[in-house]
Amino acid sequence: MKIIIVGATGTIGKVLTTELKKRHEVVSAASKSGDVRVDITSSASIKEMYAKVGKFDALVSTTGKAAFAPFHALKEEDFYTGIKSKMMGQINLVMIGKDFINDNGSFTLTSGILATDPIKSGTGLSFVNGALNSFGISAGVELTRGIRINVVSPGLVEDSAAGLGAAFPGHVPVPMSRVVSGYVKSVEGFGTGKVIEIY
Ligand SMILES: NC(=O)c1ccc[n+]([C@@H]2O[C@H](COP(=O)([O-])OP(=O)(O)OC[C@H]3O[C@@H](n4cnc5c(N)ncnc54)[C@H](OP(=O)(O)O)[C@@H]3O)[C@@H](O)[C@H]2O)c1
Repeated sequence: MKIIIVGATGTIGKVLTTELKKRHEVVSAASKSGDVRVDITSSASIKEMYAKVGKFDALVSTTGKAAFAPFHALKEEDFYTGIKSKMMGQINLVMIGKDFINDNGSFTLTSGILATDPIKSGTGLSFVNGALNSFGISAGVELTRGIRINVVSPGLVEDSAAGLGAAFPGHVPVPMSRVVSGYVKSVEGFGTGKVIEIY
């Protein structure tokens, strides 16, 4: 399969890229490096990426930013950070990409455990994660041509846990191998409209 990974240079994306490259043609994408550059906060940039890459079989997104700040410090603009990047950035990868993807292709987005298991200062991420889960569940109903969509919702990954542990009391960090397996299940498996929780 020809697979685009947006966020391929990040903590999760680089390990996933190594795994999927064993069996597939991978096109890595990120805003500062990669085979193609894309800024997911810009629809024009996303269209440019798809035009450059051409037809493909799977798109995996392991990217997206959102505000991490105490609830009472959050300003309206902080919510828009997550809406513009992690939420609409990933949704636009699907809404624009559906016209470029091959029949029976798949989209895999990333949300996170904070959708349903909140922590202090996590509201800016939690509400976006919840929206992405709902988007995936609903889009799975209407995508045509055999195109599938799933959302991987990882817990705090072991590789990111150093220094963050105190912010996630009682959370058991998840091994990267389990997180990568969630993406592999989405891309190489059969389900659609699923939230694949790796907790
Ligand atoms: N790590 C965890 O423990 C964990 C747990 C649950 C959920 N998640 C979620 O998983 C996703 C990835 O997490 P991560 O820890 O792997 O993140 P990360 O290490 O910060 O990597 C982010 C990736 O996205 C790219 N990127 C950043 N802004 C971009 C933009 N505007 N357009 C295109 N690419 C952009 C980065 O490359 P450039 O800088 O070159 O753009 C990088 O490749 C995030 O949505 C995060 O919330 C992570």
